[in-house]
Amino acid sequence: MSIEEQIKTLKKERQAIILAHNYTMADVQDIADFVGDSLELSRKAAECHAPVIVFCGVRFMAETAKILSPESIVLHPNPHAGCPMADMATASAIQEYKKTHAGTTVVAYVNTMAETKTAVDICCTSGNAEKVIESIPPEKDILFLPDRNLGANLSAKLGRKMDLWAGFCPTHNKIMPEHILHAKALHPQAVVMVHPECLPAVVQLADKALSTGGMLRFARESDAREFIVGTECGILHRMRKENPGKVFHPLEPAVVCPNMKKITLEDVLFALQDLEPRIELDDATISAAKGSIDKMLEIVP
Ligand code: 13P
Ligand code: SF4
Repeated sequence: MSIEEQIKTLKKERQAIILAHNYTMADVQDIADFVGDSLELSRKAAECHAPVIVFCGVRFMAETAKILSPESIVLHPNPHAGCPMADMATASAIQEYKKTHAGTTVVAYVNTMAETKTAVDICCTSGNAEKVIESIPPEKDILFLPDRNLGANLSAKLGRKMDLWAGFCPTHNKIMPEHILHAKALHPQAVVMVHPECLPAVVQLADKALSTGGMLRFARESDAREFIVGTECGILHRMRKENPGKVFHPLEPAVVCPNMKKITLEDVLFALQDLEPRIELDDATISAAKGSIDKMLEIVP
Protein backbone atom coordinates (compact mmCIF):
# COMPACT_ATOMS: atom_id res chain seq x y z
CA MET A 1 0.00 0.00 0.00
CA SER A 2 1.24 3.52 -0.75
CA ILE A 3 1.65 5.92 2.14
CA GLU A 4 -1.42 7.82 0.92
CA GLU A 5 -3.49 4.61 0.97
CA GLN A 6 -2.25 3.73 4.46
CA ILE A 7 -3.24 7.19 5.68
CA LYS A 8 -6.67 6.85 4.08
CA THR A 9 -7.30 3.46 5.69
CA LEU A 10 -6.12 4.54 9.12
CA LYS A 11 -8.01 7.81 8.91
CA LYS A 12 -11.24 5.86 8.45
CA GLU A 13 -10.45 3.53 11.35
CA ARG A 14 -9.67 6.45 13.66
CA GLN A 15 -12.66 8.49 12.39
CA ALA A 16 -10.15 11.26 11.90
CA ILE A 17 -10.34 14.43 9.86
CA ILE A 18 -7.18 15.92 8.35
CA LEU A 19 -6.99 19.72 8.22
CA ALA A 20 -4.14 21.45 6.38
CA HIS A 21 -3.06 25.04 5.92
CA ASN A 22 -2.62 26.49 2.42
CA TYR A 23 1.18 26.68 2.94
CA THR A 24 1.81 23.00 3.73
CA MET A 25 3.56 20.59 1.35
CA ALA A 26 1.57 19.73 -1.79
CA ASP A 27 1.32 16.02 -0.94
CA VAL A 28 0.02 16.85 2.54
CA GLN A 29 -2.60 19.19 1.07
CA ASP A 30 -3.64 16.44 -1.32
CA ILE A 31 -4.45 13.92 1.45
CA ALA A 32 -6.28 16.49 3.62
CA ASP A 33 -10.06 16.57 4.00
CA PHE A 34 -9.97 20.33 4.12
CA VAL A 35 -7.32 22.89 3.16
CA GLY A 36 -7.76 26.51 4.17
CA ASP A 37 -6.56 29.70 5.84
CA SER A 38 -6.40 30.26 9.60
CA LEU A 39 -9.99 31.49 9.84
CA GLU A 40 -11.46 28.73 7.67
CA LEU A 41 -9.49 26.09 9.59
CA SER A 42 -10.69 27.50 12.95
CA ARG A 43 -14.30 27.35 11.76
CA LYS A 44 -13.83 23.82 10.46
CA ALA A 45 -12.32 22.67 13.77
CA ALA A 46 -15.20 24.25 15.70
CA GLU A 47 -17.89 22.53 13.66
CA CYS A 48 -16.38 19.16 12.72
CA HIS A 49 -16.93 17.19 16.00
CA ALA A 50 -14.47 14.52 14.84
CA PRO A 51 -12.97 12.31 17.57
CA VAL A 52 -9.53 12.90 16.04
CA ILE A 53 -8.28 16.00 14.21
CA VAL A 54 -4.91 15.76 12.48
CA PHE A 55 -3.76 19.35 12.14
CA CYS A 56 -1.17 20.03 9.46
CA GLY A 57 0.01 23.56 10.04
CA VAL A 58 2.00 25.41 12.69
CA ARG A 59 1.42 24.91 16.40
CA PHE A 60 -0.76 27.95 17.15
CA MET A 61 -3.23 26.73 14.51
CA ALA A 62 -3.39 23.26 16.05
CA GLU A 63 -3.85 24.88 19.48
CA THR A 64 -6.76 26.92 18.12
CA ALA A 65 -8.34 23.69 16.86
CA LYS A 66 -7.96 22.16 20.35
CA ILE A 67 -9.46 25.25 22.01
CA LEU A 68 -12.46 25.15 19.68
CA SER A 69 -12.86 21.38 19.77
CA PRO A 70 -11.59 20.38 23.25
CA GLU A 71 -13.28 16.98 23.19
CA SER A 72 -11.30 15.94 20.11
CA ILE A 73 -7.85 14.44 20.19
CA VAL A 74 -5.87 17.03 18.22
CA LEU A 75 -2.73 15.61 16.66
CA HIS A 76 0.06 17.92 15.52
CA PRO A 77 2.19 15.58 13.42
CA ASN A 78 5.43 17.54 13.85
CA PRO A 79 5.72 19.32 17.21
CA HIS A 80 8.69 21.32 15.88
CA ALA A 81 6.47 23.20 13.44
CA GLY A 82 6.04 26.49 15.29
CA CYS A 83 5.44 30.06 14.15
CA PRO A 84 8.28 32.39 15.20
CA MET A 85 5.93 35.38 15.12
CA ALA A 86 3.57 33.67 17.57
CA ASP A 87 6.42 33.49 20.07
CA MET A 88 7.04 37.26 19.90
CA ALA A 89 4.20 38.21 22.27
CA THR A 90 3.88 36.50 25.65
CA ALA A 91 1.02 36.71 28.15
CA SER A 92 3.33 38.18 30.78
CA ALA A 93 4.55 40.97 28.48
CA ILE A 94 0.93 41.85 27.66
CA GLN A 95 0.03 41.93 31.38
CA GLU A 96 2.95 44.31 31.87
CA TYR A 97 1.68 46.58 29.06
CA LYS A 98 -1.82 46.58 30.56
CA LYS A 99 -0.51 47.95 33.87
CA THR A 100 0.14 51.29 32.18
CA HIS A 101 -2.65 51.14 29.58
CA ALA A 102 -5.85 50.39 31.46
CA GLY A 103 -8.87 50.50 29.19
CA THR A 104 -6.92 49.70 25.98
CA THR A 105 -8.52 46.95 23.91
CA VAL A 106 -5.95 44.28 23.12
CA VAL A 107 -6.46 42.71 19.70
CA ALA A 108 -4.40 39.60 19.00
CA TYR A 109 -3.73 38.21 15.59
CA VAL A 110 -4.60 34.52 15.79
CA ASN A 111 -0.86 33.86 15.22
CA THR A 112 -0.32 33.77 19.00
CA MET A 113 0.14 30.92 21.45
CA ALA A 114 -2.85 29.71 23.52
CA GLU A 115 -1.43 31.19 26.70
CA THR A 116 -1.05 34.60 25.04
CA LYS A 117 -4.70 34.49 23.95
CA THR A 118 -5.71 34.26 27.62
CA ALA A 119 -4.37 37.82 28.13
CA VAL A 120 -6.12 39.55 25.21
CA ASP A 121 -9.62 40.88 24.53
CA ILE A 122 -10.33 39.63 21.03
CA CYS A 123 -8.58 37.71 18.25
CA CYS A 124 -8.56 38.26 14.52
CA THR A 125 -7.08 36.61 11.46
CA SER A 126 -5.90 38.27 8.28
CA GLY A 127 -9.28 37.23 6.83
CA ASN A 128 -11.41 39.22 9.29
CA ALA A 129 -9.06 41.76 10.90
CA GLU A 130 -10.75 44.79 9.33
CA LYS A 131 -14.18 43.79 10.63
CA VAL A 132 -12.78 43.01 14.08
CA ILE A 133 -11.10 46.44 14.33
CA GLU A 134 -14.25 48.15 13.05
CA SER A 135 -16.26 46.42 15.80
CA ILE A 136 -14.29 48.29 18.49
CA PRO A 137 -15.84 51.65 19.45
CA PRO A 138 -13.83 54.52 17.91
CA GLU A 139 -13.13 56.16 21.28
CA LYS A 140 -11.30 53.03 22.50
CA ASP A 141 -7.51 52.78 22.33
CA ILE A 142 -6.24 49.61 20.64
CA LEU A 143 -3.07 47.56 21.03
CA PHE A 144 -2.55 45.27 18.04
CA LEU A 145 -0.19 42.31 18.40
CA PRO A 146 2.09 40.63 17.54
CA ASP A 147 2.42 41.61 13.85
CA ARG A 148 3.50 45.22 13.39
CA ASN A 149 3.15 44.94 9.59
CA LEU A 150 -0.43 43.66 9.65
CA GLY A 151 -1.20 46.29 12.30
CA ALA A 152 0.33 49.12 10.25
CA ASN A 153 -1.45 47.97 7.09
CA LEU A 154 -4.79 47.86 8.91
CA SER A 155 -4.15 51.23 10.50
CA ALA A 156 -3.45 52.80 7.11
CA LYS A 157 -6.47 51.19 5.43
CA LEU A 158 -8.98 51.95 8.19
CA GLY A 159 -7.51 55.30 9.27
CA ARG A 160 -7.42 54.00 12.86
CA LYS A 161 -4.48 54.75 15.12
CA MET A 162 -3.28 51.70 17.06
CA ASP A 163 -0.37 50.83 19.31
CA LEU A 164 1.66 48.17 17.49
CA TRP A 165 3.65 45.33 19.06
CA ALA A 166 7.11 44.83 17.57
CA GLY A 167 6.52 41.34 16.15
CA PHE A 168 6.80 40.25 12.52
CA CYS A 169 6.72 37.19 10.30
CA PRO A 170 10.32 36.34 9.34
CA THR A 171 9.08 34.91 6.03
CA HIS A 172 6.88 37.81 4.86
CA ASN A 173 9.09 40.50 6.35
CA LYS A 174 11.86 39.47 3.93
CA ILE A 175 9.77 40.43 0.90
CA MET A 176 11.12 43.78 -0.29
CA PRO A 177 9.55 46.36 -2.62
CA GLU A 178 12.29 45.53 -5.16
CA HIS A 179 11.04 41.93 -5.34
CA ILE A 180 7.60 43.16 -6.35
CA LEU A 181 8.99 45.70 -8.81
CA HIS A 182 11.16 43.00 -10.38
CA ALA A 183 8.17 40.65 -10.77
CA LYS A 184 6.08 43.48 -12.23
CA ALA A 185 8.79 44.27 -14.77
CA LEU A 186 8.85 40.59 -15.83
CA HIS A 187 5.04 40.25 -15.92
CA PRO A 188 3.55 43.68 -16.57
CA GLN A 189 0.04 42.27 -17.21
CA ALA A 190 -0.17 40.38 -13.92
CA VAL A 191 -2.33 41.36 -10.96
CA VAL A 192 -0.25 41.58 -7.75
CA MET A 193 -1.58 39.87 -4.62
CA VAL A 194 0.35 39.99 -1.34
CA HIS A 195 -0.30 38.91 2.24
CA PRO A 196 -0.92 41.75 4.73
CA GLU A 197 1.96 40.41 6.87
CA CYS A 198 4.23 42.09 4.28
CA LEU A 199 5.87 45.46 4.92
CA PRO A 200 3.57 48.45 4.26
CA ALA A 201 5.91 49.54 1.42
CA VAL A 202 5.25 46.16 -0.23
CA VAL A 203 1.49 46.28 0.32
CA GLN A 204 1.42 49.74 -1.28
CA LEU A 205 2.80 48.26 -4.52
CA ALA A 206 0.19 45.48 -4.65
CA ASP A 207 -3.27 45.46 -6.21
CA LYS A 208 -4.65 43.33 -3.38
CA ALA A 209 -3.55 42.47 0.19
CA LEU A 210 -5.47 39.37 1.21
CA SER A 211 -5.44 36.38 3.56
CA THR A 212 -4.43 33.13 1.89
CA GLY A 213 -8.11 32.16 1.62
CA GLY A 214 -8.87 35.60 0.20
CA MET A 215 -6.15 35.20 -2.44
CA LEU A 216 -7.52 31.83 -3.51
CA ARG A 217 -11.04 33.27 -3.79
CA PHE A 218 -9.80 36.30 -5.71
CA ALA A 219 -7.78 34.11 -8.09
CA ARG A 220 -10.90 32.02 -8.83
CA GLU A 221 -13.31 34.93 -9.25
CA SER A 222 -11.11 37.48 -11.02
CA ASP A 223 -11.25 37.87 -14.80
CA ALA A 224 -7.47 38.37 -14.81
CA ARG A 225 -5.43 35.51 -16.29
CA GLU A 226 -2.06 36.25 -14.72
CA PHE A 227 -1.08 36.88 -11.10
CA ILE A 228 2.03 37.66 -9.07
CA VAL A 229 1.78 35.87 -5.72
CA GLY A 230 3.45 37.66 -2.80
CA THR A 231 3.17 35.05 -0.10
CA GLU A 232 4.48 31.64 0.94
CA CYS A 233 4.99 29.49 -2.15
CA GLY A 234 2.98 26.49 -0.83
CA ILE A 235 -0.20 28.30 -1.86
CA LEU A 236 0.75 27.96 -5.54
CA HIS A 237 -0.17 24.27 -5.50
CA ARG A 238 -3.85 24.94 -4.76
CA MET A 239 -3.97 28.07 -6.92
CA ARG A 240 -2.76 26.20 -9.98
CA LYS A 241 -4.94 23.17 -9.28
CA GLU A 242 -8.08 25.29 -8.95
CA ASN A 243 -7.34 27.55 -11.92
CA PRO A 244 -5.83 25.48 -14.73
CA GLY A 245 -6.30 28.27 -17.30
CA LYS A 246 -4.52 30.95 -15.27
CA VAL A 247 -0.85 31.67 -14.63
CA PHE A 248 0.64 32.29 -11.18
CA HIS A 249 4.13 33.75 -10.77
CA PRO A 250 5.97 33.29 -7.46
CA LEU A 251 8.36 36.00 -6.29
CA GLU A 252 12.11 35.60 -6.60
CA PRO A 253 13.75 34.46 -4.41
CA ALA A 254 11.04 31.97 -3.37
CA VAL A 255 9.09 32.89 -0.24
CA VAL A 256 9.27 29.91 2.13
CA CYS A 257 8.04 29.34 5.69
CA PRO A 258 10.36 26.54 6.87
CA ASN A 259 7.98 25.58 9.66
CA MET A 260 5.05 24.97 7.34
CA LYS A 261 7.27 22.58 5.40
CA LYS A 262 8.13 20.46 8.45
CA ILE A 263 5.03 18.27 8.32
CA THR A 264 5.50 15.33 5.98
CA LEU A 265 3.21 12.52 4.85
CA GLU A 266 5.23 10.16 7.07
CA ASP A 267 4.55 12.39 10.08
CA VAL A 268 0.82 12.25 9.30
CA LEU A 269 0.89 8.46 9.02
CA PHE A 270 2.84 8.02 12.28
CA ALA A 271 0.52 10.44 14.10
CA LEU A 272 -2.49 8.40 13.02
CA GLN A 273 -0.80 5.16 14.02
CA ASP A 274 0.34 6.36 17.47
CA LEU A 275 -2.35 8.99 18.17
CA GLU A 276 0.62 11.19 19.09
CA PRO A 277 1.95 13.91 19.30
CA ARG A 278 -1.15 15.53 20.78
CA ILE A 279 -1.91 19.12 21.61
CA GLU A 280 -2.50 19.17 25.37
CA LEU A 281 -3.82 22.33 27.03
CA ASP A 282 -5.20 22.63 30.54
CA ASP A 283 -8.89 23.51 31.02
CA ALA A 284 -8.17 26.96 32.44
CA THR A 285 -6.09 27.94 29.40
CA ILE A 286 -8.70 26.54 27.02
CA SER A 287 -11.58 28.44 28.58
CA ALA A 288 -9.65 31.72 28.95
CA ALA A 289 -8.27 31.57 25.40
CA LYS A 290 -11.62 30.51 23.95
CA GLY A 291 -13.23 33.78 25.07
CA SER A 292 -11.10 35.87 22.71
CA ILE A 293 -11.55 33.45 19.79
CA ASP A 294 -15.32 33.15 20.32
CA LYS A 295 -15.63 36.94 20.30
CA MET A 296 -13.95 37.03 16.91
CA LEU A 297 -16.15 34.24 15.53
CA GLU A 298 -19.30 36.00 16.84
CA ILE A 299 -18.47 39.32 15.17
CA VAL A 300 -17.71 37.76 11.84
CA PRO A 301 -19.97 34.75 11.45
P1 13P B 1 -3.79 33.10 6.65
O1 13P B 1 -4.73 33.20 7.80
O2 13P B 1 -3.97 34.19 5.66
O3 13P B 1 -3.85 31.74 6.05
O4 13P B 1 -2.31 33.35 7.19
C1 13P B 1 -1.68 32.54 8.11
C2 13P B 1 -0.26 32.78 8.16
O5 13P B 1 0.44 32.24 8.98
C3 13P B 1 0.32 33.69 7.19
O6 13P B 1 1.68 33.73 7.33
FE1 SF4 C 1 4.27 32.18 11.03
FE2 SF4 C 1 5.11 33.58 8.96
FE3 SF4 C 1 5.15 30.92 8.85
FE4 SF4 C 1 2.84 32.28 8.77
S1 SF4 C 1 4.47 32.30 7.26
S2 SF4 C 1 3.29 30.46 9.99
S3 SF4 C 1 3.29 33.97 10.18
S4 SF4 C 1 6.34 32.22 10.24
